[in-house]
Amino acid sequence: GGGPLLDLRRRPLHDLRISVTDRCNFRCTYCMPREVFGSDYEFMPHASLLSFEEIARVAGIAVGLGVRKIRLTGGEPLLRKHLENLIALLARLRTPEGEPVDLTLTTNGTLLAKKARALKEAGLHRVTVSLDALDDSMFERMSDSNVSVATVLEGIEEAARVGLAPVKVNMVVRKGLNDGQILPMARHFRHSGHILRFIEYMDVGSTNGWNLDEVLTGRQILDLIGSEFPLEPVDAHYRGEVAERWRYADGSGEIGVITSVSQPFCGDCSRARLSPEGRIFLCLFADAGHDLRSLLRGGASDEQLRDRLAAIWHGRNDHYSEQRGHETQRRDKVEMSYIGG
Ligand code: GTP
Ligand code: 5AD
Ligand code: SF4
Ligand code: SF4
Repeated sequence: GGGPLLDLRRRPLHDLRISVTDRCNFRCTYCMPREVFGSDYEFMPHASLLSFEEIARVAGIAVGLGVRKIRLTGGEPLLRKHLENLIALLARLRTPEGEPVDLTLTTNGTLLAKKARALKEAGLHRVTVSLDALDDSMFERMSDSNVSVATVLEGIEEAARVGLAPVKVNMVVRKGLNDGQILPMARHFRHSGHILRFIEYMDVGSTNGWNLDEVLTGRQILDLIGSEFPLEPVDAHYRGEVAERWRYADGSGEIGVITSVSQPFCGDCSRARLSPEGRIFLCLFADAGHDLRSLLRGGASDEQLRDRLAAIWHGRNDHYSEQRGHETQRRDKVEMSYIGG
């Protein structure tokens, strides 16, 4: 009882983003630059990761506190073995009204063609696939890998085929690097039924050497696309939706822009993040998390866990993207590959 759980800025808890691994088979220069995440980089040992049962327990408690949407992230979540077993546990969760929660996953798509069917059968609803270019050499530069674009496109098509739809495609835009791929990507995904979203390059973590000069704003991206394909705005699905939605006036599909830099959306931020080793991070730009693993492994009751999580959310006051600027150079921000965006 007592009404919805609100933080100090009166924001409800609605989304839980769960990072299941800090590993990835890509080395996107804006996320896991190889100079930092090289062959001698120490990832988290398996014993320190939450088990699927532990993750599902935290998720169930979060649903009791208001969470209606769960997203699995990484690193690359499909690198975690038997991830479909976790999905099956999460698919069983019910809200107090008896509804299932929206269950989705963000992946780089390399293993998706192989795994889409098992993920769907385990109860996953949808996927979001990252793809920063259609051109192979630009894609290799962005991801610092030799995976071909065709592999990711096959993953996207297989996901749609098995019903993990609509598929969303995320393109991080870096001005002067892959912005020449905006129109080819828009042309490719019109008429596909997939929703292409353009993400302003953000200063996540402290390893990517972010610079405001590399940000192409959502407005600039929409102007560019709109000059070739007229666009109309679409209403948000719910308050606090991250992407601003647009559709092609000729009915050929929907796109989105995620404007965390040029138009911050902290006012409606309803997201909590669970790290692979069981720490709750609130803001994507937080410097530290709140440990839940020691409670989980120390025999805490569901009620104790619930109180702890409620207290963490209740005390929340962060709104980094509204304060960006002098804070950008802070060295202690959590890394994207650890917290999953
Ligand atoms: P949908 O609700 O399905 O549209 O997913 P989403 O947009 O919430 O999730 P996704 O993993 O696709 O994230 C898209 C981009 O938005 C990524 O670059 C995320 O890092 C970024 N993002 C998601 N949540 C937040 C947030 O709370 N703050 C900021 N600054 N960026 C966010
Ligand atoms: N800025 C914006 N988006 C980013 N992503 C990873 N790093 C950044 C960054 N610095 C994207 C990934 C993925 C999503 C979860 O976040 O490409 O699509
Ligand atoms: Fe891996 Fe995604 Fe980071 Fe690229 S952005 S290195 S695919 S976790
Ligand atoms: Fe939420 Fe932090 Fe993103 Fe703002 S910057 S929307 S507070 S996660």
